[in-house]
Amino acid sequence: ILGSRSYSQDLLDHYEKPRNVGAMDKTAVDVGTGIVGAPACGDVMKLQIKVDDEGRITEAVFKTFGCGAAVASSSYATELIKGKTMDEAAGIKNTDISTHLSLPPVKLHCSMLAEDAIKAALADYKNKQKK
Ligand code: FES
Ligand code: FES
Repeated sequence: ILGSRSYSQDLLDHYEKPRNVGAMDKTAVDVGTGIVGAPACGDVMKLQIKVDDEGRITEAVFKTFGCGAAVASSSYATELIKGKTMDEAAGIKNTDISTHLSLPPVKLHCSMLAEDAIKAALADYKNKQKK
């Protein structure tokens, strides 16, 4: 997808050098896991967070099986949420990501996937605390 020169430097940078690729133990109590898919293209994104006692996200990792814009969106998303409280992370919008990466209109749903993945990871973490 990234053949065109019209893509932004930030986008190319995150695509070529994705940050925080990895996985954490899904069963750990302090880890929240979000797995989401985009029906339109079939791409899948897994984003995981580690949360400390004060409700702050200390670590974030991802694995994305999808297009370059989805990889870049999830990479940037992990950078964004690290160090934030859960409430702050919940407030992140896909437009925060797409604007920063200058995603073209056809790639907006890729950043939506990242927003959904953050929300799903937060929900999973909260669910675990109830048990
Ligand atoms: Fe990572 Fe700008 S894209 S800081
Ligand atoms: Fe579907 Fe990018 S094309 S996530």
